[in-house]
Amino acid sequence: MRELDGKVALVTGASRGIGRAIAVALGERGAKVIVNYTANEAAAAEAAAAVQAAGGTAVTKRFDVSDPAAVDAAIREISSDGGLHILVNNAGIAVNGLVLGGKDADWKRSIDVNLNGTYYCTRAALRPLLKARDAGRIINITSVTAESGSAGQAPYVAAKAGVIGLTKVLAKEYASRGITVNAVSPGFIETDMTASELPAARRESLLKEIPLGRVGAPADVAAAVVYLAGPGGAYVTGQVLRVNGGLLM
Ligand SMILES: NC(=O)c1ccc[n+]([C@@H]2O[C@H](COP(=O)([O-])OP(=O)(O)OC[C@H]3O[C@@H](n4cnc5c(N)ncnc54)[C@H](OP(=O)(O)O)[C@@H]3O)[C@@H](O)[C@H]2O)c1
Repeated sequence: MRELDGKVALVTGASRGIGRAIAVALGERGAKVIVNYTANEAAAAEAAAAVQAAGGTAVTKRFDVSDPAAVDAAIREISSDGGLHILVNNAGIAVNGLVLGGKDADWKRSIDVNLNGTYYCTRAALRPLLKARDAGRIINITSVTAESGSAGQAPYVAAKAGVIGLTKVLAKEYASRGITVNAVSPGFIETDMTASELPAARRESLLKEIPLGRVGAPADVAAAVVYLAGPGGAYVTGQVLRVNGGLLM
């Protein structure tokens, strides 16, 4: 018997990076994983195959988390087939730019995907999670920058800070119904997102700021999600779990 046997987990943005690692880790522990993506079908299929290779079950589901109608339809379909027990709001995009001269479209796109997407998916998932009978879990992926600030990243940082606020509200609203709601806050993790966003020189100086002396791997974040999703996390709610090598304490 594995700790997540019989559970259904939806991981948004699971085709690549951190979401993919979360999908594999949850699948390995017995959950049936819904691998969401928005554009990259081949990567999603590969991620689902990786879950299966790890001994899990996975299906892919394409929808854009920033489209509330698509989210509602997808989560209705997912939950009608075996319910829903774990929601991991991981899908995200990096949107950078200084405030002075910043484009409204950039600001809106970041809020739409990073914050509204988390809100839409959670809202649609709440009813099926309530039916999970005192076992519903919501885990939102925020960012170290939401707590530390980061010059040149206002659209991203503001959205991720909003995710922390939303996490705490949800934790208070649904604790009495047995749903725990937590955020995981990664530091610098090696994925496509950071590869395209951070030039080598910046990366070098960042490494000097990380007490554990290395960048994080997607599996480091997945381990925190597994803890919060599993029986060990049953008495933890409304928290922000930092996985950042000590970058921010
Ligand atoms: N990497 C880091 O250092 C770091 C640090 C702190 C926080 N985070 C957060 O961790 C999460 C994952 O980041 P990552 O580095 O793994 O990113 P990534 O490698 O760029 O992967 C992003 C994932 O999100 C999906 N996605 C993007 N927009 C979407 C949308 N509108 N609807 C549905 N799915 C969408 C992508 O799907 P497609 O493949 O279809 O494009 C992909 O699966 C994000 O929330 C990010 O902000 C990352």
